Amino acid sequence: MKYIFGNWKMYLSHKEAITLAVRLKDISYDVSEVTVGVFPSLLSLVGVKNTLAHTAITIGAQHVAWTPVGPYTGAVSAALVHDVGATHTLVGHSERRHIFGESNDNIRKRVEAAIVAGLIPVLCIGETQEDLAQGKREYRLKKQLMKALAGLDIAPDGLIVAYEPVWAISHGSNGKPCMPADTEEVHVWIKKELEEYNLQRVPVLYGGSVNAENVVSYMSLPSVDGVLVGSASTKGDVFSTIIAAGASM
Ligand code: PGA
Repeated sequence: MKYIFGNWKMYLSHKEAITLAVRLKDISYDVSEVTVGVFPSLLSLVGVKNTLAHTAITIGAQHVAWTPVGPYTGAVSAALVHDVGATHTLVGHSERRHIFGESNDNIRKRVEAAIVAGLIPVLCIGETQEDLAQGKREYRLKKQLMKALAGLDIAPDGLIVAYEPVWAISHGSNGKPCMPADTEEVHVWIKKELEEYNLQRVPVLYGGSVNAENVVSYMSLPSVDGVLVGSASTKGDVFSTIIAAGASM
């Protein structure tokens, strides 16, 4: 199975999210080969879910609280997200780590909360430009994986990892993607690392400035199980082209 996930971040109004979902209703691809998923804002999650009700497109949250039901003002738990039909949640996206200060310990709690609630966490890991310059890529990824996964009992189909080098993530338009050859090398390394946790069968996606022009160069890599697309997934025509191109691999 390959994966094409769209992280809509905070790009779209509710109306735009529904319009995009309506647009995606009509795309056709081989659902036995590819899982397409979208991660709208929490406000639009139910509306997008309902719009895509008769399709195979899965829905996920961009973020969940680790706290369960109770007096947690402003929080939305993994259980609540699961309750309205989401199947996945991003955890540890670099924008959460770096802009909103989420620590590795924090992220670990979210992974656990997602699993308890029946969601599949899409654990995002990635080194910064500074890490890269200092030769600390593997150190960073190793630490992020270890903090999130050590000692957890997870079924291989209960987790997805997304390699998202922070320096490759676009800020709306022109990002600098990780070169496919480097991406392959890092994915091979991540898969080896996942053996430590008996999770070598977990899918590993690439994210960072994926677009309609370069999607095939990632989807065709042997160790890349799919892509997590940000800004390019928020435009109907572009995301449809990405799905058509990526699903043809
Ligand atoms: P981008 O974002 O495709 O806009 O670079 C990817 C991500 O952050 O998931």
